[in-house]
Amino acid sequence: MTDNASNDFSLPVAGVPAGPLAGRVAVITGASAGIGAATAHRFAAAGAAVALLGRRSGLLEDLAATLREEHSAEVLPLAVDVTDPAALTAAASTIRAALGRPDLVVANAGVMLGAPFDEADTAEWDQMIDVNLRGLLATGRAFIADLLDAAEAGRAADLVNLGSIAAEVIFADYPVYGATKAAVTQLTRNLRASLGPRGVRVRSVDPAFAITELGAGMAHEATRVGLAEMRSAITTITAEDVADAITYSVAVPARINIAALTVVPTQLG
Ligand SMILES: NC(=O)c1ccc[n+]([C@@H]2O[C@H](COP(=O)([O-])OP(=O)(O)OC[C@H]3O[C@@H](n4cnc5c(N)ncnc54)[C@H](OP(=O)(O)O)[C@@H]3O)[C@@H](O)[C@H]2O)c1
Repeated sequence: MTDNASNDFSLPVAGVPAGPLAGRVAVITGASAGIGAATAHRFAAAGAAVALLGRRSGLLEDLAATLREEHSAEVLPLAVDVTDPAALTAAASTIRAALGRPDLVVANAGVMLGAPFDEADTAEWDQMIDVNLRGLLATGRAFIADLLDAAEAGRAADLVNLGSIAAEVIFADYPVYGATKAAVTQLTRNLRASLGPRGVRVRSVDPAFAITELGAGMAHEATRVGLAEMRSAITTITAEDVADAITYSVAVPARINIAALTVVPTQLG
């Protein structure tokens, strides 16, 4: 494998079209908000062409317009629900035709719907399993041939899975969210073993307390209030902080896999 990735690790500068991700074609799920949107900004600023996936097409269109204006980036917004594997497969074809074969996929779409086990609306459990686990699997599968193709050609190829510290840390009212994220962690380890030898870098990025929309839609009011209290008790981090870590990890030379990244408020230890 050649070592084609740039050695320029400086953080992207707004308005500069070329950068450490120039020539790369990125796909980000959950790009309409939070960490996904922040990562789209960083990738576009670093020179990548970026496909923006999510359900809220208006937000995706707005973000695309901003990225084109601020970074002269090639951007493709696509309304896709990651729980629909056929929609992901169709999106993959559209992206190949418009931007070229993706070599950088961020499976970021996720939902966090906490509640005590005995009070939870089980439809929320289904939603977390469908988006956080089935959706992440379907995302990787839709683009794996592209990633393997890039790796075979000696280019950097990345599959970044968004996990969470909830995979390891115990939060009493988030048993199913934690279970989906623990599954992401173990899935990612296994994929590293199978895809790493074939040149695809698979990694998990595990954030905590980045202030985004995450959790805003949960039905259980006391858990929602509890989340706001936990957030206000510490100095939290931002979606951009997580995006910077992701961008660094995909810009290092192809021989290196920064295989797991934990990005948390310093106060959390
Ligand atoms: N923020 C944190 O501190 C933190 C901590 C640990 C882990 N994470 C993980 O980081 C990832 C991003 O979270 P965030 O904090 O940025 O949350 P967010 O602000 O709520 O954004 C979540 C994104 O996922 C998308 N999404 C949800 N369901 C979807 C579906 N069915 N199909 C397609 N897209 C869907 C949403 O877009 P649409 O609504 O437009 O579809 C949105 O763009 C998640 O996997 C989350 O579990 C975040």
